[in-house]
Amino acid sequence: MAKVIKGIDWETFHKLRGSEKKEYFIRDEKIFHIIMPQQFDRPFLDEICELTSKIRGIAKGNKGIAFLQSLLQGKRAMLYFVQPSTRTFLSFMAACQILGIQCSDVRDTATSSEMKGEWQEDTVRTFSSYVDLIVMRHPQAGFAERIAFLLNQISRPVPVINAGSGKDQHPTQALLDIYTLHRSFENYGGIDGKKIAFVGDLRRGRTVRSLAYLLRNYSDVTLYFVAPPELQLGEDLKEYLREQQVAFEEMDRLEEVIPSVDAVYMTRIQDEYDEAGESKRIDYSAYYFKKEYLKILPPNAIIMHPLPRRDEIPVEIDADKRAMYWRQVRNGMWVRVTLIATIFLKDKDIKEY
Ligand code: CP
Repeated sequence: MAKVIKGIDWETFHKLRGSEKKEYFIRDEKIFHIIMPQQFDRPFLDEICELTSKIRGIAKGNKGIAFLQSLLQGKRAMLYFVQPSTRTFLSFMAACQILGIQCSDVRDTATSSEMKGEWQEDTVRTFSSYVDLIVMRHPQAGFAERIAFLLNQISRPVPVINAGSGKDQHPTQALLDIYTLHRSFENYGGIDGKKIAFVGDLRRGRTVRSLAYLLRNYSDVTLYFVAPPELQLGEDLKEYLREQQVAFEEMDRLEEVIPSVDAVYMTRIQDEYDEAGESKRIDYSAYYFKKEYLKILPPNAIIMHPLPRRDEIPVEIDADKRAMYWRQVRNGMWVRVTLIATIFLKDKDIKEY
């Protein structure tokens, strides 16, 4: 059974540290809800990378495709995406299709009874009556966590996957980023010891936050946070990294860091979170990856971006073999297949295939 949270109210639960919450996101010692990167450890990350590569191999043949489609036939998923998305929505839908799961979706609260004043919590609880999995993107930080908390307390708990929660977290993007780093450095000593620069709007970029949380699982990594002062990383995450003894440095000049990094993680400005058009006062062009930087980027380094991009990576860079962002997009689908299969305890069948 999922952990029933007795004697703890939402406010108390919400204030717990990520590492203290993680026991509420497991069931029979296996991952059940995917809510935040602090719930994952190194063995889990290694397992996800290994299983994802195995699934990609299986999916190369018709027999393998049919095997994957048989794994979760009869299951249903709800994709509740009430914040815009292209990649995460479509890759979760494709991942469900690969595993034989049927999907429904709500992408606009104007089409649900939330328009009639229904509480969001009741809306999502309603989904849980019809489906076996809820994948949700929501503008409010902590909402996916709240839903997992609430659903743990009903007689038929349904797993919840956080597909992006406001400015706070995007754990499945971070897992696909880890898989991309893992594959890129498979023959170069793995992720341990690597130097990774995060560039752009780090204060409001949830993909950066989630990946930085995950990177504490790797030894001797160094993180460079390159951003305008107004958009530097939040104090909460810096405090976490200090506690976890992850080496990091804050900088504001991109070209200084490029010659010494293994990965550059570019991001767009997150101006949808502006309160009064403050992004317009920032010269973001200083945080673009310029074509001439290709000459000073080490030959085995990679360029990442969660996408969507605007002008921070010119299209000419796409042809460089170090540009990994389109691979990230593809990897996202396979990692999400792995995560769903793992939640439904199909990892053993996949390993034995
Ligand atoms: N990377 C990412 O989350 O993209 P979408 O917003 O298009 O889902």
